[in-house]
Amino acid sequence: MTLPPSLDRSAYLLAARGERPPHTPVWFMRQAGRALPEYRAAREGISMLESCMRPDLVVELTLQPVRRYGVDAAIFFSDIVFPLQAAGFDVEIKPGVGPVVAEPIRDAAGVARVRPVTPSDVSFTTEAVRQLVSELGGTPLIGFAGAPFTVASYLVEGGPSKDFAKTKAMMHGDPSLWHALADRLADVAIAFLSVQVEAGASAIQLFDSWAGGLSPRDYERFVMPHSAKVFDALKQYDVPRVHFGVNTGELLGLMSAAGADVVGVDWRVPLDEAVRRLGTPKPVQGNLDPALLFAGWEAIEPEVDRILAEGASAPGHIFNLGHGVPPNADPDVLQRITKYVQSAHVPA
Ligand code: CP3
Repeated sequence: MTLPPSLDRSAYLLAARGERPPHTPVWFMRQAGRALPEYRAAREGISMLESCMRPDLVVELTLQPVRRYGVDAAIFFSDIVFPLQAAGFDVEIKPGVGPVVAEPIRDAAGVARVRPVTPSDVSFTTEAVRQLVSELGGTPLIGFAGAPFTVASYLVEGGPSKDFAKTKAMMHGDPSLWHALADRLADVAIAFLSVQVEAGASAIQLFDSWAGGLSPRDYERFVMPHSAKVFDALKQYDVPRVHFGVNTGELLGLMSAAGADVVGVDWRVPLDEAVRRLGTPKPVQGNLDPALLFAGWEAIEPEVDRILAEGASAPGHIFNLGHGVPPNADPDVLQRITKYVQSAHVPA
């Protein structure tokens, strides 16, 4: 697909392709959300997953942070469990908790409840992406999905988990059941990402937020083949494919090798060290600690400078937080960081 020149040469897409744009692009994971009063007003009385089914609301919630912060990319407003729900799986998002599954998956019958997602299951997604792409003009829209491991962790545990004990028990205790589940979830991710790209999203991000809970050995054996399947399937679209997880310092090389074009880095590993860990140098995204948002500008500014300097060692750098925007963050601070990064001298 040929992109309009303003989009094709946007700072985000240039950096994601390993080129040097005139300024370092910046956006924030979970930039749409409770930190914005206009978000809270628009979402009033509408559940999270219900919101994802209303194209007009999805468009508004996706655009809010672009308007407010002037970030270099929009991320489609949805959730990692939304495609499952749209395909009839019983999952809900509890405010302040996260995805919750009434009947967790523990056996083959459970795995069979995860049925394939078709474009007609998520027709509202196609509609919302099309509308967004036309409204965003030269600002790229990032499509996203949850990676098989992170989505599986919610389905097997029944909700958020700290140790992923049941998920790991399934991996090691019944590897074929685990691989069957992860394979179905790879297909769900492929379907949801393809719908977004076909409708006009110009990059995709695969969130394996909780992969950092695994050893490299387990990651390689149980997770990497399934994430690699997702990246392989998306290759035909020729859009940058971004991969991100929290606490993945030990996994950066493997997550890169799974097929990412851009690797997201949390705040635990400096970007220059992250690039070394990738093996093959690639563009990176990150890595301001979200906790710094509450520390005052005197503390934030030198951190942003450090990240920009270290990011210069990568073939491309997209400025971001090391994880999502906390719900109680101050929007003015995020706006100030955006302007600061966009006007900073790009280190050679
Ligand atoms: O702005 C954006 O980044 C786009 C929207 C987005 C949401 N979820 C909306 C959302 C994205 C990219 C996600 C991905 C997502 N969802 C991930 C991966 C990213 C990450 O943070 O690691 C994960 C792990 C989830 C699962 C999930 N959904 C959690 C843990 C929560 C938080 C629960 C809470 O209330 O604190 C959600 C709910 C959710 N997804 C909200 C939003 C804006 C908050 C719900 C609300 O506003 O009512």
